[in-house]
Amino acid sequence: MVGNGIAIVGAGMIGAAHAAGYRTHLPRFAKLGATMDVVCDVNVDAASKMASTWGFDRTAADWRAVMADASIGIVSVCLPNFLHTEVAQTALRAGKHVLCEKPLALSADDARATRDLARASSGVSGTVFNYRRIPALADINARVANGELGDPVQILIQYQCDYAADPMLPHSWRYTFDRAGPGALLDLGTHAVDMARFMLGDVSEIAGAVSTISICERFLPAAATTGHGHTQLSDELAIVDNDDVMSALLRFTGGAQGFVTASRIALGTGNRVQVEVYGTRGTARFTTEMPSHFELAISDDGSPAPFRRMINRPSSPSVGTLAPVPHDLVSIGYAEGFGFMIHEFLSAIAEGRPFENGSMEDGYRAAQILDAIQTASEINAPVSVNWRD
Ligand SMILES: NC(=O)c1ccc[n+]([C@@H]2O[C@H](COP(=O)([O-])OP(=O)(O)OC[C@H]3O[C@@H](n4cnc5c(N)ncnc54)[C@H](O)[C@@H]3O)[C@@H](O)[C@H]2O)c1
Repeated sequence: MVGNGIAIVGAGMIGAAHAAGYRTHLPRFAKLGATMDVVCDVNVDAASKMASTWGFDRTAADWRAVMADASIGIVSVCLPNFLHTEVAQTALRAGKHVLCEKPLALSADDARATRDLARASSGVSGTVFNYRRIPALADINARVANGELGDPVQILIQYQCDYAADPMLPHSWRYTFDRAGPGALLDLGTHAVDMARFMLGDVSEIAGAVSTISICERFLPAAATTGHGHTQLSDELAIVDNDDVMSALLRFTGGAQGFVTASRIALGTGNRVQVEVYGTRGTARFTTEMPSHFELAISDDGSPAPFRRMINRPSSPSVGTLAPVPHDLVSIGYAEGFGFMIHEFLSAIAEGRPFENGSMEDGYRAAQILDAIQTASEINAPVSVNWRD
């Protein structure tokens, strides 16, 4: 038996998004009896700050002690990528409910082992694929699934960020292959690849992929940093050995093709996700820059069709009564979508059912595609996606 305490492991940038999600949605699950219990981080100050900001009872520095603590039942793994496998697997073995940040692991083999443990666990588990909960993207997904766009032909996904465009941003775990894995590919491409699978299903082949590093070294920080924050720099340079930009051409099992690109140095983009889905009857397109709607063009006879604005409504997927202002055209952005995902995780726990939409299986399947993209870029040749159960 595990208790009802919630633990956030990793008090950095995304740990705060998890904390905000639990703080916003936990009151809806009073019967669960869960409490905002502990924030764990080796950086004691970061843990204390997050605990006091979001109302957690205590802090911890040793994640192993948190996993061994029977009073903890719900764990958000918000650590650097290289720690996901060990921490998520330890939490699963301890019988806890586990929501693990993307990427689920640095490799498909590790992701598969985590997926296997999740399968054997009676707890609820999932991979953080929060973009699935953006209402416009969930809506497009539903329309693709019900055939409104006809047979899928093509998908274009761009995940463009500029968080690393400044060469004076300090070096961190994100810029080393052994701790982050491939750079933009695992940091941003993970979401893009999951979005591609979410919309069009499984991928059979990476027809080609390119990855490049533009800023080849960065100064090490002189003080602790989180997220993409600046801090005082030391005078020691360290090598950046993972990609700043990646692009891949995908062939889907169902016959469609896709193009996925991600950059962490695309100046001016902030954090922009654009998705375009083309089918034999229509096109849907969405950008996070205009989060209150997506656009849809449908033509039954192939004649030119204008794009219609499909606005967010309370009846849009995921929204229901969850939006703080349940009214037409009220923007639903990153933070709300992230909270909707936490709500779904808590719902699955409360109802004793699987968290399916962003599962550990989805984390593993994305990892298989990401491995194939990395290999295709290294050998500069097509790579089949190795669909191992
Ligand atoms: N879902 C999303 O949209 C999204 C967005 C950003 C980041 N992420 C993911 O979240 C994870 C964390 O990213 P971040 O930006 O929050 O990183 P971060 O560097 O801001 O925070 C990581 C935290 O982990 C702590 N930490 C490191 N080693 C530790 C250990 N052994 N024990 C306890 N604490 C330890 C660090 O001190 C730091 O506070 C990454 O896997 C990243 O891919 C996801």
